[in-house]
Amino acid sequence: MAIRVDELMALEARARLGGPEEARAKHAERGKLLPRERTQRLLDPGAPLLELSPLAAHGMYGGEVPSGGVLCVIGRVHGRLVCVMANDATVKGGTYHPVSVKKHLRAQEIARKNRLPCVYMVDSGGAFLPLQSEMFADREHGGRMFFNQARMSAAGVPQLAVVMGSCTAGGAYVPAMSDEVVIVREQGTIFLAGPPLVLAATGERVTAEDLGGGDVHARVSGVADHLADSDEHALELARSAIENLPAGPGPLWTPAPPRKPAYDPEELLSLLESPAPPATEVLARLLDASDLAPLQLESGANAVAGFARIAGHPVAVLAAFGVLSSDLALAFARLLDLADERRLPVVTFAAACDPGDATPAYATAAARLLKRVATLRVPLIAVIAGPSAGCAHLALSARALGARFVFAWPTAGVSADPSAAPIDPLDHTARVFDDGLIDPRRTREVLSLALEATRHGG
Ligand code: COA
Repeated sequence: MAIRVDELMALEARARLGGPEEARAKHAERGKLLPRERTQRLLDPGAPLLELSPLAAHGMYGGEVPSGGVLCVIGRVHGRLVCVMANDATVKGGTYHPVSVKKHLRAQEIARKNRLPCVYMVDSGGAFLPLQSEMFADREHGGRMFFNQARMSAAGVPQLAVVMGSCTAGGAYVPAMSDEVVIVREQGTIFLAGPPLVLAATGERVTAEDLGGGDVHARVSGVADHLADSDEHALELARSAIENLPAGPGPLWTPAPPRKPAYDPEELLSLLESPAPPATEVLARLLDASDLAPLQLESGANAVAGFARIAGHPVAVLAAFGVLSSDLALAFARLLDLADERRLPVVTFAAACDPGDATPAYATAAARLLKRVATLRVPLIAVIAGPSAGCAHLALSARALGARFVFAWPTAGVSADPSAAPIDPLDHTARVFDDGLIDPRRTREVLSLALEATRHGG
């Protein structure tokens, strides 16, 4: 486990660098900040933040698209949680590959469900043209970004764009569809086709600035509301725009002061060496004061469920390692009934699979659990805690059933059938099937921010 965590840290450090050295040098020579620097300056200094899917596109596209070319972060601006989506122009001109689209849409989904204002830091050449056929025509393709913006705007979830580089073709609609737009003078451009295309199509020579630079959009077209002198200035203007937003809806619950677990979370590493660690021992290292008010479950099952607090947030929680029996499925459904009635968020830690000899009774119980999860009115946050398969996986950990966030420990592995080889966790996270692989020792920190994000979502 420790080796896997070290490997994860090394891969994340490499992904954090962004594109090739020459591209980063060219970017800096233009007076531009890198996406992580931009995000850091936008967010409140020192406040915790949650980066989504930092290993998106890992091992894909010849390894040339670190983090999927788009940085997605949940963090605070003037104390308010926002969702930042920042193109990395050092990665193939900030263009969108199919996985970049998926990551962007997932961040928007998280923002929509949790009512987080969105900040788009745009610096993108639009679609990565050689792969355009894989990300244009369908429902969950590029156009969905604009649909999401329109719907969030209409639902009162603020949409703010900071144009810090190229917004070409599809990328032009991101600022154009935002509620409020900042553009950097002589750096940000918004147009459907750039100067080379204009030349090819009409023979006209025009500079990018004259075609769709800051001056054009702040003074002529009206697409931009604020003209900034530099990245730094633009980010100050964006912070001030967020400060001036009306307050969002009231919170669903009030957290208590957080308490550390009585057992050291460091010990999770050795505990998780086993594919089926004792569920009570795992929870003891995750819950505030290691305190759980448990529900009675079938004896002998490696599972626990009950009520507790995580980083001060009241939660209904369950941990399950091993086979999900009919009785367990029904007991979990009962826990979710109570969570729904009491308006408590649900947190699951599961490495579970269906029984090998699944009986009709199991199918009925599992269907009851699936239905319960699918119709929850409260947020469910899942941590895939190890090998996870079949209906048990779908019910306890999957995006398909509507989990608000899905994180995975580095020993996670997912398959439809437990006898099949599971998807490698790195492959799972690369394809944005989860919101990030996390060091088990950081689980409370990650859940704290995820729970805080869901608190205002309704
Ligand atoms: N599709 C595929 N690759 C693209 C691309 C696109 N839309 N836009 C840029 N790239 C690639 C370049 O080929 C280059 O690749 P390389 O590093 O392997 O040589 C890399 O991205 C960087 O592009 P470059 O032009 O060298 O960088 P730049 O910072 O000077 O300019 C852009 C970046 C985005 C402003 C510029 O490349 C551009 O205008 N691209 C075309 C945008 C467009 O017409 N998009 C239409 C989408 S529907």
